[in-house]
Amino acid sequence: MEPKKMTVPDLKEKKKSGRKITMLTAYDYPTALLVDRAGIDAILVGDSLGMVVLGYRDTVSVTMDEMLHHTKAVSSAVKNALVIGDMPFGSYNVSVEKAVGNANRMMKEAHADCIKLEGGRSMAPLVGAIVKAGIPVQGHIGLTPQTASSLGGFKVQGKSFEAAKSLIEDAKALEDAGCFSIVLEAIPSPIAKIITGSISIPTIGIGAGIDCDGQVLVIHDLIGLFERFTPKFVKQYAKISDDILSAVSRYKSDVENMKFPEEKHSFSMNEKELEKLKTKRKVRVAKKAG
Ligand code: KIV
Repeated sequence: MEPKKMTVPDLKEKKKSGRKITMLTAYDYPTALLVDRAGIDAILVGDSLGMVVLGYRDTVSVTMDEMLHHTKAVSSAVKNALVIGDMPFGSYNVSVEKAVGNANRMMKEAHADCIKLEGGRSMAPLVGAIVKAGIPVQGHIGLTPQTASSLGGFKVQGKSFEAAKSLIEDAKALEDAGCFSIVLEAIPSPIAKIITGSISIPTIGIGAGIDCDGQVLVIHDLIGLFERFTPKFVKQYAKISDDILSAVSRYKSDVENMKFPEEKHSFSMNEKELEKLKTKRKVRVAKKAG
């Protein structure tokens, strides 16, 4: 029997019954096909797109149009996983109207099932308005890459008593505002455990330890396709960049040494037709020569 399409209530149910939630990013059709086929619960079209696919320095420059373009490709591929469209910097942190408008675009134009946005209690009014508009929202606290410069860079968050308390309050405020789940990024495991135990919606950890209700990773980190840096919280399950480099180098060598294409990669032609063509050309050349 085909697995059925994952929904927001299904994810909440997984937390209730103590079954771990699996989430991964994807940014294009072929990768999303594979991630979905593997049975991953939720696929995030993250704004990490900017860094791992588009070659940007950070995620801040990613635009709404770029997110829509890639989310649409992922949605076309996915049959079962919940597709989460990430809201890029500047698409929601401006006004409630703009936030609801862009969240609507993510659903209508890119066919996402829900959206994710970064920020704690200060985002609660925006979350409330988007949820009221009928769009499920996943929160994201801890290390929030879009505002990394105000956090002092890409650093673990919530290490002091005050910072940890503030994160716990953020999680509670996002739950109260209507979030269906919260991503916890780069926070000490004991704090993630406290947050997970103190809210009824699922927490999805990335660098937040084993006690979250689920885990998420950037697919390019997991398969070894992003070489600029690898965060401590990443487990690399493959080194695809080595395979790609080897395949491309062998192709280059084969072309240069006339080992590709071989007979089996080429198309033949009816001998008689070919002879006709050659004779015609000979006559034409002879006529031209006078
Ligand atoms: O953009 C992204 O990929 C994310 C994950 C790191 C959670 O936000």
